[in-house]
Amino acid sequence: MDAFFFFLSPSFFSLFFLLVASAEDDVHFASCAPFDCGNLKNISYPFWTDHHGRPAYCGFDYEGYKLKYCMENQFPVLTISSQEFRLLHLNQSRGLMTIQRLEFGENTTCPQEIFMDNKLNYPDTSVNIALSRGCRSLSANYSLKCKWLGTELIPLFFNKNDENQVGCVKQVEVPVEKKALDELMLGNFTLNQTLVQPFDMKYFAYDDYCRRCKQSGGRCGSDAIQPPVFVCYCPDHPHSITCKHGKSSASICSPNLP
Ligand SMILES: *[C@@H]1O[C@H](CO)[C@@H](O)[C@H](O)[C@H]1NC(C)=O
Ligand SMILES: *[C@@H]1O[C@H](CO)[C@@H](O)[C@H](O)[C@H]1NC(C)=O
Ligand SMILES: *[C@@H]1O[C@H](CO)[C@@H](O)[C@H](O)[C@H]1NC(C)=O
Ligand SMILES: *[C@@H]1O[C@H](CO)[C@@H](O)[C@H](O)[C@H]1NC(C)=O
Ligand SMILES: *[C@@H]1O[C@H](CO)[C@@H](O)[C@H](O)[C@H]1NC(C)=O
Ligand SMILES: *[C@@H]1O[C@H](CO)[C@@H](O)[C@H](O)[C@H]1NC(C)=O
Repeated sequence: MDAFFFFLSPSFFSLFFLLVASAEDDVHFASCAPFDCGNLKNISYPFWTDHHGRPAYCGFDYEGYKLKYCMENQFPVLTISSQEFRLLHLNQSRGLMTIQRLEFGENTTCPQEIFMDNKLNYPDTSVNIALSRGCRSLSANYSLKCKWLGTELIPLFFNKNDENQVGCVKQVEVPVEKKALDELMLGNFTLNQTLVQPFDMKYFAYDDYCRRCKQSGGRCGSDAIQPPVFVCYCPDHPHSITCKHGKSSASICSPNLP
C-alpha cells in the first residue's frame, strides 16, 4: 500500500473502501506505483528500471527511459543514442529531465550526436554546439582528446565560426547547457568542462493520455508490443486511456505520439 494512493482518498469511507479493494488490485496497477531510484525519488512513467521488480510495462519501452542503476546515494544512469548520462533531476509536470554526460578522458569515446525523435527535444536552455576535427591553431581550451570509433585518438575542437578555420571538418553536433556555452566563450570553462555540465532535455510519451489517466485514478504504462501503445492501469483492470467504467482492455487503440 503506498502513500500516493492514500493521498488520493478524500474521506475515511473511501479510504476504507480502497483498503479493502486494494487486496485485489490488478497486478499492473499494483506494480506501477511511483518508485525511488538512488538519489531520485517518486519517479513514475515513462521511466522504468530492471531493479525493484518494476516491469517494463510501467514505463515506456524506449531506451532513454530505462534507468540503468538504482544505487543508494547515486544518480540513475540512462542511455540516449548509445551514450550514458546521469539523470540528476526530473520535473515530471513539465516533462523535463536534467542529464549530465559522464566524464571525458583520453580513453573515453568522443561525444556523439543525440538523435532527436518524437520522444526527445531541446528546451530553450540547451543548445547544440558543433565539434570539428582537423582544425589548426585553436586554443587548447576549445579542444578535447577522445577516442573515435573505439581506437583512433583524435582532438575535437569547438568551432565558433565554422567557415573561418583551416582544415576543420565538422564531426558532430552535441547539446550543452546555454550558460555553459557562455562560460566557454568567456574562457571560464574548457571544452571538457562545458561538455560535462548538466543540461535539460524535454521528453514526451503520450503526456496528454497520461494526465487523463492519472486524473481518473490510474497509473500510466505501455504494452510490450512495438511500437509501444499507451495503457492506463486501473485498480480493476487495464484501460486504454482513463479508468472510466464501461471500457475494457480489449479496446486499446494505437494512437500516434504527440
Ligand atoms: C509524487 O509525485 C506526484 C506527481 O507525479 C505528486 O502528485 C506527489 O505529491 C508526489 N509525492 C511525494 C511524496 O512527493
Ligand atoms: C517544475 O517546474 C515548475 C515550473 O517551473 C516549478 O514550479 C516546480 O517547482 C518544478 N518541480 C520540480 C520537482 O522541479
Ligand atoms: C577533462 O577533465 C578532467 C578533469 O576535470 C580530466 O581528468 C580529463 O583528462 C579531461 N579530459 C580531457 C580530454 O581533457
Ligand atoms: C589510456 O589507455 C592507455 C592504454 O590502455 C593507457 O596506457 C593510458 O594510461 C590511458 N590514459 C588515461 C589518461 O587513462
Ligand atoms: C583557458 O582556460 C583556463 C582555465 O579555465 C583560463 O584560465 C584561461 O584564461 C583560458 N584561456 C583562454 C584563451 O580562454
Ligand atoms: C567569467 O569570465 C568573465 C570574464 O573573464 C568574468 O567577468 C566572470 O565573472 C566569469 N564568470 C564566472 C561565473 O566565473
